[in-house]
Parts: sequence; structure tokens; C-alpha cells
Amino acid sequence: MKILGIDIGGSAVKGAPVDTATGRMLAERFRIEMPKVVTPAAMAKLVAEIARHFKWRGPIGIGFPGVIQGSRTMTSANLHKQFIGCDTGKLFARATRCRVMLTNDAAAAAVAEMTFGAGRRFQGTTLLLTLGTGIGSALCAHGTVVPCEFGHLPLHGKSAERYVSATARKRRELSWAEWGKELGEYVRTLEGLLWPDLIIIGGGVSAKHAKFFKYLKPRARLVPAKFRNGAGIVGAALAAGRRP
Ligand code: BGC
Repeated sequence: MKILGIDIGGSAVKGAPVDTATGRMLAERFRIEMPKVVTPAAMAKLVAEIARHFKWRGPIGIGFPGVIQGSRTMTSANLHKQFIGCDTGKLFARATRCRVMLTNDAAAAAVAEMTFGAGRRFQGTTLLLTLGTGIGSALCAHGTVVPCEFGHLPLHGKSAERYVSATARKRRELSWAEWGKELGEYVRTLEGLLWPDLIIIGGGVSAKHAKFFKYLKPRARLVPAKFRNGAGIVGAALAAGRRP
């Protein structure tokens, strides 16, 4: 099946058609930068522009950085607040005139990694964390992926992602060692609660895993995601393909 995968991030929206049987992108991805925070209506136009770029008429899977319930987006920590409670699925379906299925972005990445990436064929409990503007999380076992919101685990009275996301490292001007040690404490806290067998770290910063993995020191096996930036697009398409 061919599904258009779209990944909505804090600073860009990108998409490409995906072959769900192989997890391969069928064309070079199309990316639209967002210099400022945009409303759901403005985002719908960008999503429609991506669909138009590929002359798309089929199903669309979209990874969104927030809690999804049905076709609604229930939280929006790093996007426009108008997304909170918005029927974003319906809005995007109207704008593209296609069937649209939304998935949490980290859950989408987890589907890609567990199907074709670093967790392929692994049946044990897997925790996937994406480190970007926020921290995305998903728990996987036996082919099931459950979206989680561990980026909002309280730390110093705020969401942990405010201190240990990849963006927080830059904003706080931390060295790899300083950030790695704080991130390690956070990862080990999650580990003590969830006891995963495998931890997969995704997000753009996972390409630099050699700089900070040594500070994390979890009990579980720790690996970088195989799909670096493509996980969101591929996973959103795969997740949409799994829906009835
Ligand atoms: C959101 C999550 C999302 C993560 C990564 C968090 O702020 O609450 O839903 O997966 O950022 O984008």
C-alpha cells in the first residue's frame, strides 16, 4: 500500500509517499519550513501543499507532537495552543480531500523502528524516546505500540523536556557531558518504573549518540534509532496503514 506520510514538527512540516510493505520513501521528501508558530488553519494549508506537491489522492498518515484522541489533538506543548481540543484530523481531511489518520509523532517513530528499524524482530519491552524540541516517548511490546507522555514527567516543578530535550541542551548551553548526565538520571528514572529490555533513542541528535550515550548508563540495552529524521514520515504512514 502507498500512503503519504507527513511529520509535523516544531519548525517544519515534511512529507513523502511511503511503501508500507518495505518502509521505503517513494520520492524525495518535501519540506516546508515554519519560521513562526502557526494556527491549525494555517497548518492545514501547509499539509495540503504537501499533498498537492505529490498530486496525492490516497490515504495520509500524519505524525503530530501531542496527545491524539480519535481525530482530535488534545495537547500542544510546542505548537499553537489552538490545537488543544481541535478536530485536527477533520480539518486536515477537509484541506486535502483525503482520508487522514493522526498518530502521536513518537508512537509513529516507534512503529517505524519496531517494523523496519532498530527494534525489528525484537519482542521484549522497548522504550523509545525521541529527543528534539520536546521529548517524545512510546512503549512497545509484541508488536503493540503505546504512545506515552514521559517528556512531561515532572522535574524541578516543570516538564522534564524543558531540561533534558535536545533543544534544552542548546538553550541551556550544556556540554555533552553535563547534558548526558542529567539525561541519564531521567532515563534511569523511567527505567526504574518501566523496566524495558531495550531503549531506542531517536530524534536528530541520535546521529551524535557517540557524544552522549556513555553518560546515560541504563541497565537495558541502549541503541540509536535506525531511521534518523525519516522515522516520523515512515512511521506515520505505517501507523495509518495499520488502522482498519
Ligand atoms: C509532546 C509529545 C510529543 C513530544 C515530541 C511533547 O511535548 O507532548 O506528545 O511526542 O513532545 O514531539
